[in-house]
Amino acid sequence: MFHMGWFLGAGFGTYGWGGRWSGNAKKDIAKPDLFIDMATSLERAGFDYMMLEDASNIPDVYKSSLEPGLRQGALRNDPMTLVPLLGQATKHLGIIATAATSFYPPYLAARLATSLDNLTDGRFGMNLVTASSHGAAQNYGLDKHFEHDMRYEMADEWVRCVKALWDTWEPGALVMDEETGVFADASKVHYANFEGKWFSSRGPLNSIPAPQGHPVICQAGGSPAGRDFGAKHADTIIASLVEEPGVENMKEYRDDISERMIKYGRNPKDAKILFLAQPIMADTDRAAQEKRDGMVAAMAANTDAVLAGMSYFSGKDLSGLDLDAPIEEITDHNGHKSLVDAFMREHKGKTLRQAAADRAQTIGSVELVGTPETVADKMSEIMDYVGGDGFLIRGPLDRAVITEICDGLAPVLRRKGLIRSEYSEGTFKENLLAF
Ligand SMILES: Cc1cc2nc3c(=O)[nH]c(=O)nc-3n(C[C@H](O)[C@H](O)[C@H](O)COP(=O)(O)O)c2cc1C
Repeated sequence: MFHMGWFLGAGFGTYGWGGRWSGNAKKDIAKPDLFIDMATSLERAGFDYMMLEDASNIPDVYKSSLEPGLRQGALRNDPMTLVPLLGQATKHLGIIATAATSFYPPYLAARLATSLDNLTDGRFGMNLVTASSHGAAQNYGLDKHFEHDMRYEMADEWVRCVKALWDTWEPGALVMDEETGVFADASKVHYANFEGKWFSSRGPLNSIPAPQGHPVICQAGGSPAGRDFGAKHADTIIASLVEEPGVENMKEYRDDISERMIKYGRNPKDAKILFLAQPIMADTDRAAQEKRDGMVAAMAANTDAVLAGMSYFSGKDLSGLDLDAPIEEITDHNGHKSLVDAFMREHKGKTLRQAAADRAQTIGSVELVGTPETVADKMSEIMDYVGGDGFLIRGPLDRAVITEICDGLAPVLRRKGLIRSEYSEGTFKENLLAF
């Protein structure tokens, strides 16, 4: 069996608007309804979690302008605000929202996480990112963002500080004994007195301890520093191999993380790696292939989108580059290391136009195209080979796509015994560790 998650690549952002199944987007944008429909559908389908991305600025690197981002609606509400509503509408689904370790004070994050874990009955997780853009850093009062590897050193200290705060309450400290009139046992609540290079906090937390103790930690960065961070701290790792796709690379990723976990004294089974994938399905394999070819052709023609994306990820404005000259190395960048470096490796020597067109050929870490039956069999084969733990679905988000996955693909996966048919009565972490 494997695990399933869904990646909302625009966080608590704008979905549906201008798309095929936009519903009443103009009225409903930024309302919780679509997200609640999604959460209940994912639970019906047996997913482990729904994961909300986040960012803290409107992109303005490409063309040195806010215009491309504003035109597309590259906006985000705070994903943490959705968590209690999604928790209220579901009983078992894990809910992960993104927090940037570079900007969140540890005490604020530790207390927020325990509060949300309480509100969701032990189903909250935080996707810990270091964030990469100078624009976001400037919104929090920095001159520019910290250097890439230093961000991860800081993140490591940040998590240790947050865990120290979570640990200020020993198990059993909350006695609530109405006969003796004691709410919490003072002998089991301690100061953290965490003193680091960048972060310090006294503690103890003044919130009710979290049902999970330590809420689930999710991690996404693929550079060596990012992988180390995930191997030390994550309960689930989400991996995108869109730039260098294929089962061999997926296997390398799983094996590499396992080795790193062993080095840090952890059992590799304790972090579940989910690979980003976008199933493309139709009633016949042929129709699905035609659908895929149409999507690829549209993306290949949209060089602008690739340039805007790479500008965002690298923090360098690529709009002035000659599309028909050999691609320039995007060196010396301080952005998403693994993604940009993989793009450069994969397309070395090509023109930018060609690189953009070829990049459009890959949709996800591996291609999943066909009827639900075909896609389910492919997913099973891939997981057997990779030794991975599951898939993180992504794609344009609308109710048609949700139905396709939750009521089309998931029942086939369940019938084949590949995904869970029910949840245990446990926390998010217990569900993750169940197999
Ligand atoms: C599936 C996935 C989800 C991610 N979600 C976020 C996010 O919500 N916010 C963010 O700032 N970065 C996000 N990232 C970026 C990573 O946190 C990281 O910055 C990026 O992958 C580059 O990491 P690296 O420099 O270690 O390669 C995501 C990456 C992946 C692969």
